[in-house]
Amino acid sequence: MFEHIEPYPGDPILSLNEDFQKDPRAHKINLSIGIYFDDAGRIPVLESVRSAEARVLAASGPKSYLPMEGAANFRSAVQTLLFGAGHEAVTSGRIATIQSVGSSGGLKVGADFIARFFPGSQVWVSDPTWDNHRAMFEGAGLTVNTYPYYDAGDARASPPRPAGGLNFDAMVATLRTLPPKSIVLLHACCHNPTGVDLTPAQWDALIPVLRERELLPYLDLAYQGFGDGIEADARAARALASAGLSLFIANSFSKSMSVYGERCGALSVVCADAQQADNVLGQLKFTVRRNYSSPPIHGGQLVATVLGDPTLRDQWEGELAAMRERILAMRRALHDALVANSPGRDFGYLLSQRGMFSYTGLTPSQVDRLREQHAVYLVRSGRLCVAGLNSGNVQAAAQALSET
Ligand code: LMR
Repeated sequence: MFEHIEPYPGDPILSLNEDFQKDPRAHKINLSIGIYFDDAGRIPVLESVRSAEARVLAASGPKSYLPMEGAANFRSAVQTLLFGAGHEAVTSGRIATIQSVGSSGGLKVGADFIARFFPGSQVWVSDPTWDNHRAMFEGAGLTVNTYPYYDAGDARASPPRPAGGLNFDAMVATLRTLPPKSIVLLHACCHNPTGVDLTPAQWDALIPVLRERELLPYLDLAYQGFGDGIEADARAARALASAGLSLFIANSFSKSMSVYGERCGALSVVCADAQQADNVLGQLKFTVRRNYSSPPIHGGQLVATVLGDPTLRDQWEGELAAMRERILAMRRALHDALVANSPGRDFGYLLSQRGMFSYTGLTPSQVDRLREQHAVYLVRSGRLCVAGLNSGNVQAAAQALSET
């Protein structure tokens, strides 16, 4: 029966992480998967989340099914976090939000919804993008294309452009050529894999292009709070909604609350009015029902408890700020160690990029060498997870990078 089934070649991120776990070398360093590790190399349990969990367990009762769209307190907390409590799109009820199984689950429900209701539309993702975006949208039956994004630099340009920036003009030029109702996937902050974000001015310049070309933005916000702060990282979503654009946004709590395995995220669709939002919510529920019926309870209640209690919320913001600041300190430490090892080379991109990731420019074979010879794991695209560095391994990582 199953002779025709081909072996699975593995996932570029998750399978690599499994390989790392099996690697017996004691000095191994995991700079691959997008997980925040603390300075001791552990995944932190946030105190705000620990307190919320104690309350959730104390109040725990019969475990019926959640509604298809998830828990009401979670969904409204998500809207407030993303858009701000007084945002007109929230108060007018023109946002349809569902609780999803991680933001991946939200992205996929959104992709299925698009395949059904925008059958002529194609998807455009940044070059490069998160390894799983293409697979996810193609898995929903959609055609996926790329728009220019990362600037690998040009030493012969005048003045020479260093690697590690954004090719905004080329990005916009491509978006201007797309047919109406094309889906444009945008990273709201902390671009994965490059760490290169649009500036606020560039977001503002993008809005008229999206409107004039009648494009449908799909924001991925997996790292809120890891860029410049919770509010600053939500700026793009708020600006697009304030401009009256319809949009999708998938957001995650995996990283910001360190609750990876709880698989807790949301999908929100900002519509023109409350009636549209009602219909969209109904069809999202139907999409959920045909996939997994309804989301799990626990993670959503941890998140809703933290966001709903002013003391826990303050504590969480402090813990998130500490994670963000540690990543910035590791960016600086890696930068300084690389400059010391290779004077004259420009590693400034490590300081200007934001979030967990930086793009090293290493080729897949160099990444393989780094793993085989030094036990330092990066994703084969050359993506390095700065959040895997700590004061005990950053010098060794820099040494291995310098030797590769
Ligand atoms: C990553 O980009 O490494 C994370 O978002 C984990 C994943 O699911 O790929």
